[in-house]
Amino acid sequence: MIELQRIEHSFKLGRKGGERLVPVLRGIDMNVYEGEIVTLIGRSGSGKSTLLHIIAGFLHPTAGQIRIAGQDTTGFSEGQWADFRRRHLGVVFQNFQLIPSMTAFQNIELPLVLQGVPEGERRKRTMELLERLGMAEYAEHYPSELSGGQQQRTGIARALVLNPPLLLADEPTGSLDSDNESQFLQLLQSLNREHGITLLVITHDDKVAAIGNRTIRIEDGRLPDAADSRRMEAAQR
Ligand SMILES: Nc1ncnc2c1ncn2[C@@H]1O[C@H](COP(=O)(O)OP(=O)(O)OP(=O)(O)O)[C@@H](O)[C@H]1O
Ligand SMILES: [Mg+2]
Repeated sequence: MIELQRIEHSFKLGRKGGERLVPVLRGIDMNVYEGEIVTLIGRSGSGKSTLLHIIAGFLHPTAGQIRIAGQDTTGFSEGQWADFRRRHLGVVFQNFQLIPSMTAFQNIELPLVLQGVPEGERRKRTMELLERLGMAEYAEHYPSELSGGQQQRTGIARALVLNPPLLLADEPTGSLDSDNESQFLQLLQSLNREHGITLLVITHDDKVAAIGNRTIRIEDGRLPDAADSRRMEAAQR
């Protein structure tokens, strides 16, 4: 489902003229197979969010090749990415990225609007997710009127509303209390089991890592266990 080959990424820092390149990803080879739940762990600053943004096409890697769902996405234009994401990808961001001028309901509904789904169907699917995530009573709240956990659940619902075959999530339980976390993990597992959704989840949390078939460790922009995990992948298949 995701195939990364020799992915490198450097950020440019400093003023014009005196810029220097700071390498953040240093040659990542990684595969995620259809139907898997893979968790990605690593210390703060190790490059986890950068990698997720590259997989989702919000950042373009300095070098390397990406294939997602069988398509080479490396050279995609912004327009191709937008279309591709609508069809293949749900993304839960570390900092939620909700639109402040829209209610929770409107934030979740937005991908359906962009997709041209009729209003009745939009309302039904949005309400279903709000209920599933225990958010029904907050439908008309704006992000500034929601707690961190409620904003996070809104971001999760928005990522799920188009039933993506692949869900990328960056610390999706970081702001959830333990009840909401358990519910969310059950939701992820049922999406995986019943709908075959493939999951790549970044986490610091052992409870989240435990739902994975496989955990990949990232350290300073490298995958130190890459050789081991290739053996595990081979064994799983
Ligand atoms: N836009 C940027 N410009 C310059 N440097 C950046 C930028 N974004 C991230 N970095 C740097 O890249 C490194 C990796 O950042 P990244 O956000 O991928 O880490 P992370 O593993 O997700 O950490 P955390 O667990 O704290 O979320 C960090 O050292 C960070 O300072
Ligand atoms: Mg991060």
